[in-house]
Amino acid sequence: MKNLKVPFSPIRFVGDTLYLLDQRKLPVHEKWVPCRSSRDVWKAIRNMVVRGAPAIGITAGYGLYLGVRSFRGTRKNFMKKLFQEGRYLDSARPTARNLAYAVERILQQIALHRDKSVEHLKKITLTEAKAIHNEDILICRNIGKHGAKLFKRGSRILTHCNAGGLATSGYGTALAVFYAMKEKKIPFFVYADETRPLLQGARLTAWELFKSKIPSTLICDNMAASLMRAGKIDGVVVGADRIAMNGDTANKIGTYGVAVLAHVHKIPFYIAAPSTTFDLKARTGKDIPIEERPHHEVSHMHGKQLAPKGMKIFNPSFDVTPHQYISGIITEAGVLKPPFKRSIKKIQKILKWNLLKIRV
Ligand code: MRU
Repeated sequence: MKNLKVPFSPIRFVGDTLYLLDQRKLPVHEKWVPCRSSRDVWKAIRNMVVRGAPAIGITAGYGLYLGVRSFRGTRKNFMKKLFQEGRYLDSARPTARNLAYAVERILQQIALHRDKSVEHLKKITLTEAKAIHNEDILICRNIGKHGAKLFKRGSRILTHCNAGGLATSGYGTALAVFYAMKEKKIPFFVYADETRPLLQGARLTAWELFKSKIPSTLICDNMAASLMRAGKIDGVVVGADRIAMNGDTANKIGTYGVAVLAHVHKIPFYIAAPSTTFDLKARTGKDIPIEERPHHEVSHMHGKQLAPKGMKIFNPSFDVTPHQYISGIITEAGVLKPPFKRSIKKIQKILKWNLLKIRV
C-alpha cells in the first residue's frame, strides 16, 4: 500500500515531527509547517494550514500521538490524557467527520489494549495514526477507479472547492476521479469554481490541475449557471465533509447552489467521499454542525480590506446539499445510488467503526 504513488503529499511524519504543507501560502509559496505538539496540530487545523476532511482526520491522528508522546504516569492517567487530547483536537473544526473518526478510531484501538504498558499504548497510537494515513491512499485510489467509469470521453466536468490530493493523503476524492481518468487516457475537461471566500478552487484545485497537466479552466463561482445553461457542463463532482445516513451531504459553502443548478439543468451531480466521511449518528443534514469562520475571511483578502469597516458579515464555511439533488455518492466500495437510505445501509459493514462504543 505504501508504494502507491500520489500526485501530492501534503502530510509527512518524520522523526516525531509532523510536517504540513502550508495550504494558506499556495500556490505562490510551497512552505512546510512543523508540528511537534497537539497544540501545534490544533492550530494548524483551525487556521487551515491543513484543510479538507480526510487530511484533517489524518493530521488529527498524528496530533493525538504528539499529545501523549511525552506522557509520564500511570496507565489510567494516560487514558485520561488521551481522551482529553482527543476532545481538544476534535474541537479544532466541527464539520469534517473525518476528524472525529480518527480520534474515535485511535481511542477504540487503545481501549482494546488497555492492559498494555503506557509505552506500548503510545506505540499503538502512532501505528494507528499511520494506518489511517496509509489507508486513505488506497481508499482515494478506489474512489477514482469507480468515479472514472461514470464519465464518457470528452466530458466537461465542474468541481467546487478542493477535494484533491491536498485535501487527503495525496490523491483526492473528487480529483481522484480526474487523476484516474487521466491515467486511463480518457479525454475530459475540468471547470474549477474559484470558491469564495478562501479560494480553495483558485489557489489549490487550479494548482493541482495545472501541475498534473489536466485540461482545465478556472471560473468565478457565479459563472457556473451560465455555463450550464450554455450546455458546456456534462457533470459535477465535489467532495464532502460529512454525509448523513439519508445521503444529505455537507461540503464547502456554495456546493448546494451548484447542486440546485445541476438539478435544474438535468446535469448529474456526484459526491466523491470515503467511508470515513459518513456519520452514522447524523440521520439527516439537520444533524450536521456547520462551522462559522472568522469575519475577516469575507471582509478582507490577502490582508486587504474589501468591505466597509464595521459591516456585518456572515461566514458559514459549509452548506448541506439535500440528497434529492445527488445522483450518486462515489465511495471506495463503489457508487451509491438513490435511495441513499438503502444504498448506504449496504456499506454499513465498512462503517462499523462508527457504531462501536468507546469504553476506557
Ligand atoms: O474548509 P475546507 O477547505 O477544509 O473545506 C474543504 C471541503 O469542503 C472539501 O470539499 C471537503 O473537505 C472534501 S476534501 C476531499
